[in-house]
Amino acid sequence: MCGIVAYSGYNEAYPILINGLRRLEYRGYDSAGVALMQDGKITLYKKRGKVSDLDEFCADKNTESHVGIAHTRWATHGEPSEENAHPHLSEDGSIALIHNGIVENYVSLKQELQRIGYTFKSETDTEVLVHLIKDVQAKENLPLADAVMLALTRVEGTYALAILSTDNPDQLIVAKKGSPLLIGVGKNEYFIGSDGAPIVEYTKKVVYLEDGDVAVVTPKKPLVIRNINDEEHLRKRPYFQKLEMSLDQLEKGGFETYMLKEIFEQPKAITDSMRGRINLKKDVVSLGGIIEYESKMMNAKRFIIAACGTSWHAGLVAEYLFESLIRVPVEVEYASEFRYRNPIIHEDDVLIAISQSGETADTLAAVELAKRHGATVIGICNVVGSTLARETMAGSYTHAGPEIGVASTKAFTAQVTVLALMALSLAHKTGTISRSQYHQLVNDLESIPDKIEMVLKQEQFIQKIAQFVATRPNAIFLGRGVNYPVALEGALKLKEISYIHAEGYPAAEMKHGPIALIDEHMPVIVVATEQQTYDKVVSNIQEVIARKGTVISVVTEGDTTVKNMSKFCIEIPHTEELLTPLVATVPLQILAYHVALIRGCNVDRPRNLAKSVSVE
Ligand code: G6P
Repeated sequence: MCGIVAYSGYNEAYPILINGLRRLEYRGYDSAGVALMQDGKITLYKKRGKVSDLDEFCADKNTESHVGIAHTRWATHGEPSEENAHPHLSEDGSIALIHNGIVENYVSLKQELQRIGYTFKSETDTEVLVHLIKDVQAKENLPLADAVMLALTRVEGTYALAILSTDNPDQLIVAKKGSPLLIGVGKNEYFIGSDGAPIVEYTKKVVYLEDGDVAVVTPKKPLVIRNINDEEHLRKRPYFQKLEMSLDQLEKGGFETYMLKEIFEQPKAITDSMRGRINLKKDVVSLGGIIEYESKMMNAKRFIIAACGTSWHAGLVAEYLFESLIRVPVEVEYASEFRYRNPIIHEDDVLIAISQSGETADTLAAVELAKRHGATVIGICNVVGSTLARETMAGSYTHAGPEIGVASTKAFTAQVTVLALMALSLAHKTGTISRSQYHQLVNDLESIPDKIEMVLKQEQFIQKIAQFVATRPNAIFLGRGVNYPVALEGALKLKEISYIHAEGYPAAEMKHGPIALIDEHMPVIVVATEQQTYDKVVSNIQEVIARKGTVISVVTEGDTTVKNMSKFCIEIPHTEELLTPLVATVPLQILAYHVALIRGCNVDRPRNLAKSVSVE
């Protein structure tokens, strides 16, 4: 959600900034802007649209500079426009500021500032910050960093900030609360990013700012970091870490889009998420990150899984895995609902928060809430060093590699893999499954990457199905049991990237409503693999056919019953029922992908969405 990049050093800033914005564009892409320090003055260029529009606009402008800040926006307050795009300038042009997050008390601050004469050019909450900082600086006669610290004590909400000021033309001031920000340390130069993507090309030495940190960043000088929550504002010792990311992972690697690359990366992503976690004899599945809390997990009275979007679907799959294998009740919660409904949380509950980015505001709030109630809080996330990784007591990384396509694909299958490992490890240790069942599932899990490879080979065939679905305004996805979340995920993928209205439903629930929508125009995509309820799903398909709906099915190879009832039938290799989502989701990702392409949609950056939703 909004991307921040900033640079100060001896190199040309503009190429670093624009390149960084391109790498961050998945975070927001409705407008972009850059502020450059040129001969002690700030020059501002902003443009509605993509980063490439901004770059085109700047092509004939003077962009020579060694210090600058840049931003790509995902609109919250005010529509995408040049006025609302960041950076925002103080009235005298001496301060430029970029912001990721939301100033929740911006209305009262804005009214206060307007009363004393400040005028606003934009509808954003962010502009409040620049005037507030300027006002505090002028009234208290403080150096900028101190003014920022004081001003921020009045701000409610979340922020990652980068500020440029004519007072100290080389210097950047950066601050963080609730939205991620890291500083890359080069030789006599510094790079700022809302994640590692704009930094990794230049340095792997980074400092992750903590909530309340305000840093003064000046080339050739050490970082000065203080925290607004420390009353004495003492200097903190920067904690340098290695950025766990490589440039290759951020490139498209010969694929047309990131999403296609990430769909095809799934066999590797799943292998990587299992690596080192299943021992050679397969006797022990263990997740190093949770060892310390394993006994708490083994004695849990209940698991609460909190997540959003696709990660929530991974949580739903886990509900089946955990309840079947460990026999402990599981509640899967939308983090956004959980946090506001005064939930009952006990000390012997274990909350598992799932998030690809590790920065989803609602998921982080659920973590906070569970911690406050004394529950054990475990995280599953993909981005190393993310807020979720730092705020949970223990956890497991999915190790799927950076996911850039806004619609999540490999992160989902990697999440399900880690959740399956977790369930298997706990079930084995608590003795809730037999040795043979355990071995069968572990063996099957290890064979999933090969099975996905087989599905990926069917891309061309699925493309043909996509030609059909792309002409329809609606689609229904059905599945039962562990395939119900697969249906939800299939529907979500299709609506996210192709803008076709799609609903996911438990197959048997269809008759309680959605059946009214079925006619000869409605494609019904049914996941009907070998499972306990297979015969029931077959009956549901009959109900669809009786109403002239068009059946597109995903079945286990060799199936003839459902195949004969379908207009199109995708066969997937036989998989243990509980692990089926890992394979059955893949053809639905490919289907959504090709439908979106046929309809001319931007699959990597679908309209209105953002990859990392760091606002409520
Ligand atoms: C956004 C993304 C989704 C993602 C969801 C949760 O809505 O567009 O793809 O599933 O956020 O994100 P998280 O990073 O917490 O998994």
